[in-house]
Amino acid sequence: MNRFDDLLAHAATVKDRHILDLFAADPARAEAFSAEFGSWFFDFSKTNIDAAGLKLLVDLAEKTGVAARRDAMFAGEKINETEGRAVLHAAWRNIYDPYSVDGEDVMPALRDTIGRMQNFADAVREGRFTGQGGRITDVVNIGIGGSDLGPVMASIACTSFADGPRLHFISNVDGAHAHDVLSGLNPETTLVIVASKTFTTIETMTNAETARAWMAAKVANPAAQFAAISTATDKTAAFGIPAERVFGFEDWVGGRYSVWSPIGLSLMIGIGPGYFAEFHAGAAAMDRHFREAPLAQNLPVLLALVGLWHNQVLGHATRAVLPYEQRLARLPAYLQQLEMESNGKRVSMDGADLPYHSGPVVWGEPGTNGQHAFYQLIHQGTRVVPCEFILAARGREPYLEHQHLLLVANCLAQSEALLRGRSLAEATALMAKKGLTGAELERQARHRVFPGNRPSTTLLIEILTPFTLGGIVALYEHRVFVEGVILGINSFDQWGVELGKELALALAPVLEGTSEGAGKDGSTLGLAARIRAARA
Ligand code: F6P
Repeated sequence: MNRFDDLLAHAATVKDRHILDLFAADPARAEAFSAEFGSWFFDFSKTNIDAAGLKLLVDLAEKTGVAARRDAMFAGEKINETEGRAVLHAAWRNIYDPYSVDGEDVMPALRDTIGRMQNFADAVREGRFTGQGGRITDVVNIGIGGSDLGPVMASIACTSFADGPRLHFISNVDGAHAHDVLSGLNPETTLVIVASKTFTTIETMTNAETARAWMAAKVANPAAQFAAISTATDKTAAFGIPAERVFGFEDWVGGRYSVWSPIGLSLMIGIGPGYFAEFHAGAAAMDRHFREAPLAQNLPVLLALVGLWHNQVLGHATRAVLPYEQRLARLPAYLQQLEMESNGKRVSMDGADLPYHSGPVVWGEPGTNGQHAFYQLIHQGTRVVPCEFILAARGREPYLEHQHLLLVANCLAQSEALLRGRSLAEATALMAKKGLTGAELERQARHRVFPGNRPSTTLLIEILTPFTLGGIVALYEHRVFVEGVILGINSFDQWGVELGKELALALAPVLEGTSEGAGKDGSTLGLAARIRAARA
């Protein structure tokens, strides 16, 4: 017995049905299985969800207390129970709303920090804050995970709005990353932002030391060209960054939810405080929709329910996110952390084993590049991969609108091909037209069959702007939240990343040859010995 039993029973009766039959039976299906949010349209009609299934899904959201949990989150309750923390990242994009934690109004400090960020960003952009060689030309954000992916993803998405210094990002502890970024820059006109919620993350602190040494070789006072973003202001001071360039935030903002907070400073410098405020406003609009729309018309809830139907009910283990928008190229990577670090959990809130699967594997690439890489498997592989297309009706370059039309046509064609497929009879007719006959005709035709009946959804937005980007990111944040509530897990901790970190620290002396590595397995010791020999 588990909370998906009714849905599993329903799915057993409909799983072999063709989605095209649902369209044939209901001419209004496209409208009925879709939802609007302003000018956006979310179409989930190309899935095998019918009216009875949708009702069971919405009932599940009601029974599992999604609305109450959502309200508890916005009320500042400590819903991150394993860490004893509130979850209030939304406060950073709703800066005139009241939010408190433990009865304390958290907004005055937050507004003060936003004001300081805006002043600093303007000073950098206007050349009032300079490097030791003049106006800042380049900003390097050093961070990893949530302290990197949000600003990277958003800065690419906002390319057409960028009019500040060039932005660069260093995340990997692989020295090649720091080398490749820094070697192209002038230390005298570069600002380095060290972004780390904890200010202890080894990758970030190592890269920060490297950047400081790189700068010290050329400028007299490297600390004067450093800024820091963290919840640990004692540690930023110990690193030598003056308090006026430290932008703090509280532990009730999770790393992967932190792009709205000072972690977004590099983006703010790149696009300016005005567009950054629009990024916030787009997310705030989605927050209002999430808090106010009925569950059955609520976009984050619907995305979550479709995801649960595909993963926990039908058993499809992965989900492809396919933005037909080049500037959302890093959105799949961003969503990987958001979804998989949040909902990749094997126990429920009370510590019991989950009787169903945790969140899906999320992956993807922008269209049309993906079409020429992995869509083969999506169309003809033996496993079903539910696809989520994201599409803007208009491109950002009017003079290239003819290319945008081609992009849109490709996106619609892919979801149509997944739905419709190509039967053996159709493939045979095609091959016969080419003059094939007999056994060869049959063999060649079989290779050209597409099973079809493969599910996809399409999120159609009007055009990509900082405002719509904010809405998209908040949409996915809330979707992850709803999935987590229905699964009964804590979406806001990440204990699963700890073990590897601990073991990496213990392995460093083994690689250096100062520890025997007692108790380690033969494979790890064997690899370490070969690496030691190669480095000797
Ligand atoms: O990978 C674990 C994690 O804690 C993420 O949740 C976080 O985004 C990342 O490391 C970076 O952490 P910090 O901002 O504290 O350096």
